[in-house]
Amino acid sequence: MSDPAGLRRRYAKGQLGDGAVADSWLQQLRAWFGEAGADPAVVEPNAIQLATASADGTPSVRTVLAKAIDERGVVFYTNYDSAKAHDLDANPRASLVFVWLPHERQVRVSGAVERVARDETEAYFATRPRESQLGAWASPQSQVVASRAALDDAYAEVERRFAGQDVPPPPGWGGYLVRPDRVEFWQGRSGRLHDRIRFRLDDGQWTTERLAP
Ligand SMILES: Cc1cc2nc3c(=O)[nH]c(=O)nc-3n(C[C@H](O)[C@H](O)[C@H](O)COP(=O)(O)O)c2cc1C
Repeated sequence: MSDPAGLRRRYAKGQLGDGAVADSWLQQLRAWFGEAGADPAVVEPNAIQLATASADGTPSVRTVLAKAIDERGVVFYTNYDSAKAHDLDANPRASLVFVWLPHERQVRVSGAVERVARDETEAYFATRPRESQLGAWASPQSQVVASRAALDDAYAEVERRFAGQDVPPPPGWGGYLVRPDRVEFWQGRSGRLHDRIRFRLDDGQWTTERLAP
């Protein structure tokens, strides 16, 4: 096994100088997301690590896929009865991070979370491959299941149930919107003097500021 203490990389791929920062978090995120999406070296550019906390403050983090990035914030889809959904019921705030290591960049987003409108979930669900649609019905996400065979049986059952028909989204499945009040862009630089630019929303006003790395 390699020794993590010996792994060291010099970051030199880019800069986020004072004059280079976009006017809004959305413009900056769209620019970086566009570059990530255009580079085959970035696998799953829309993968985000999403952190939630339970009612008693226990944090939890997992990967989900961002499916919309717009002026409202970042949307992802999941099961409304999953562990993350229970966290969000109790504490409707989240923090998430995009990491694009080939570009030596990360973007942290945090803010209040709400469910998206049902018609938005339905429109997105209709674009999913049929097997993912069926999987959403078959999986009681985050619950203990008896065996792999039990899951496969549940999938076969929903396949039969929806044979020859369109698959609607399960009632307990849908989107969440993270409405940002903090968005921080990090670009690796040499000497560990990285660039960190934070967009901060307070009292209805966005402020852009540089943080020490
Ligand atoms: C690359 C990747 C993408 C994923 N995308 C999603 C997703 O979009 N929605 C989702 O509910 N789970 C997704 N997952 C699974 C979650 O990480 C997690 O296992 C699941 O949502 C259950 O989390 P919870 O028990 O904390 O609610 C993804 C996992 C990986 C590794």
